[in-house]
Amino acid sequence: MRLVFYTGKGGVGKTTTAAATAAYAAACGRRTLVLSADPAHSLGDVLGVRLDQKTTTPLRVAPGLDALEVDSRATLDPHWGAIRDYLVSLFRHQGIYDLCIVDCAPTGSTLRLVTLPEVASRAVKLLLRVQRAVATLVSPVARVVVPVPLPGPEVFRDIDRMLYERLAKLRERLLEADTSVRIVVTPERMVIDEALRAHTDLALFELACDAVVMNRLYPAEAAAEAFFESWGRLQEERLAEVEESFAPLPVLRAPLAREEVVGVAALAAHGAAIFADADPAAVLCVAPRLRFARGKGEYRVELPLPHARKDALDVAKLDDALLVRTGNRRRAIPLPRKLAALALVGAKLDAGVLTVRLGTPR
Ligand SMILES: Nc1ncnc2c1ncn2[C@@H]1O[C@H](COP(=O)(O)OP(=O)(O)OP(=O)(O)O)[C@@H](O)[C@H]1O
Ligand SMILES: [Mg+2]
Repeated sequence: MRLVFYTGKGGVGKTTTAAATAAYAAACGRRTLVLSADPAHSLGDVLGVRLDQKTTTPLRVAPGLDALEVDSRATLDPHWGAIRDYLVSLFRHQGIYDLCIVDCAPTGSTLRLVTLPEVASRAVKLLLRVQRAVATLVSPVARVVVPVPLPGPEVFRDIDRMLYERLAKLRERLLEADTSVRIVVTPERMVIDEALRAHTDLALFELACDAVVMNRLYPAEAAAEAFFESWGRLQEERLAEVEESFAPLPVLRAPLAREEVVGVAALAAHGAAIFADADPAAVLCVAPRLRFARGKGEYRVELPLPHARKDALDVAKLDDALLVRTGNRRRAIPLPRKLAALALVGAKLDAGVLTVRLGTPR
């Protein structure tokens, strides 16, 4: 099953674009599931149906198109609840669909959602090692080590090996070549800046982006109106800028529709406009991934970090992990045993790739 996440700043059109992709893919003959963890019922609203958040059975909304909203507010911890429901949904429906589109909450929470499996599974592993009884003691330590908020000790009390295994499995699933994230933007400065940071953050966690969707572009007829002329020009400039900064990711163009895009038919037509000749289910760009390479008497860790800045980047080695910080995100990258025994001898950031050299210090 191909798995595609849609993320972006609040209100840019994630739900609309995700639903349009799903409706168009279904119209092209793919068995498609569209999933949302947004507590507002926007997926149901966009599709023009009522989705019952209490059920985990998807609702058939059109031939080949099923939709499901997971209720992230039902549990004590909203993020933890959401990831658990995702897990259940993803694995339960894995064999049934060709394509699963996930409409995410705004950028920050998406990252939490996709990084939680790794972060939590590390923490869970740690907890399993020291027994559940001391969960309260370990948690503060784990909070320092990991980059995103962890569920509180009350959640860990219920954690068992099976959950750990499921988290590890989900993490593996997220790293597979058929999982991608698509970032939705609008032609606005703040939106684009946040998208650039999200791209770096996602890369830090090895989550591959395969496209950017530029939403709300004025169609030619609107840009020709005298009032919108300078807006149209500005949009063209921003589009060119986004294409340049996100290259080699393709930038899909989503036109501003005449009215809100609601209902399966309107969504499918909107999807067709966005994808033009491209296949909505295809991996639209293959991003380079984390790589361990052998050099002269040393090893290199190469981590693509698009748009990362030297002054906001830290690297350290701690036991069997490489700690990398970009902006305010941190990740402990587990190292293969051979590399874990070596020392950090150098690091450089060049053309969006962080290269760390590990060797024997002189
Ligand atoms: N291309 C478009 N043309 C016309 N209207 C659009 C377009 N994209 C989005 N909209 C409208 O903009 C509003 C916000 O869109 P949407 O709900 O998809 O954004 P979102 O990113 O999911 O928001 P949130 O962050 O709240 O989840 C909706 O009313 C939607 O119908
Ligand atoms: Mg939404």
